[in-house]
Amino acid sequence: MSAPLTRGVAGGRGVEPIRWRGDRLELLDQRLLPERMVYVSCRTAAEVAQAIRDMVVRGAPAIGCAAAFGVVLSNGTPESYAMLAKSRPTAVNLFWALERMKKAKDLENEAKAIFDQDLAANRAMGKLGAELIPQGARVMTHCNTGALATAGHGTALGVIRSAKEKGVSVIACETRPYLQGARLTAWECVQEGIPCTLITDSMAGHLMSRSEVDVVIVGADRIAANGDVANKIGTYPLAVLARRHGIPFYVAAPLSTFDAGIPDGSQIPIEERPASEVTGYRETRWAAEGVSVRNPAFDITPAELITGIICEKGVVLAPSRQRIARLRAGPRASPAPSRARATSGRARGSRIPARHTGKVPRARR
Ligand code: MRU
Repeated sequence: MSAPLTRGVAGGRGVEPIRWRGDRLELLDQRLLPERMVYVSCRTAAEVAQAIRDMVVRGAPAIGCAAAFGVVLSNGTPESYAMLAKSRPTAVNLFWALERMKKAKDLENEAKAIFDQDLAANRAMGKLGAELIPQGARVMTHCNTGALATAGHGTALGVIRSAKEKGVSVIACETRPYLQGARLTAWECVQEGIPCTLITDSMAGHLMSRSEVDVVIVGADRIAANGDVANKIGTYPLAVLARRHGIPFYVAAPLSTFDAGIPDGSQIPIEERPASEVTGYRETRWAAEGVSVRNPAFDITPAELITGIICEKGVVLAPSRQRIARLRAGPRASPAPSRARATSGRARGSRIPARHTGKVPRARR
């Protein structure tokens, strides 16, 4: 099923990476973007597991949603759970969704609820997070955390999308080796009319040192109890650089990405992907035959480098075990951004340094 590149994007509904059709799951094949828009049909849990492994569908929340529908397609057999659980190890949303499905009375309704709740969570965190983005900010982001990576709207890119009226612009890191930034984030920004400049990952420090970045915002695949964050490889160096240059570094992720059972980042399983993703791309190979290769798909950003974690329930500034636990246990935040809940014990506005709110921060050299 091939379609023109704007179909599914135009009409205000945004791009649809996951379409449930009752008897099958249609997944927008993200390996082919931005050249072609092709949907892959999955009719069994095995096909959904394969699609997750091959990155037809990717991004932590989207993986969780797809897995839930995969369970529906195979009527919740034990084999279907086992197959889906083996597809990718780092994004905890996968395991969170499978646990929810195991407890569900009506599998199809539960999968739809997981999908709808993710969309609602993204819109809520978009509103909360947009309040943290300064007027006219140049926002650096990594990988793809937009509608493609979720049920819709996106997490980090969702915050940027929600802050569009503030005249923000995006600096998209290309995200080697699989180029989610160059292929997917740049495409989503172009579709949405959000000004976007693409850079290679190695250019981030240079731009920061020239005061060309006001804020960094990324997504997450798993957040440990102490606030350490697993995200796409290359996130950790961005956090180190942001700290060096006094630039706020935010993580946006729904509560389904928090893993209270993992004490800190060192315990998060890191997926190693095929060497072919590093030695070349698609049909092109540039590395010498015989060279050994590492391809960890994620890295860990320690909580101490994170200015704040934005989720649908509020913003955890200077994340710590206690603050995250307090946010999780507390009531849902008001959707009005001006009353966004923060877990620091003080009013949110008083907890964010001036350079993190309205005023565009200057880099320290
Ligand atoms: O390997 P990917 O493309 O699935 O990695 C995706 C990321 O690292 C995202 O930043 C993360 O899943 C959050 S998506 C809203």
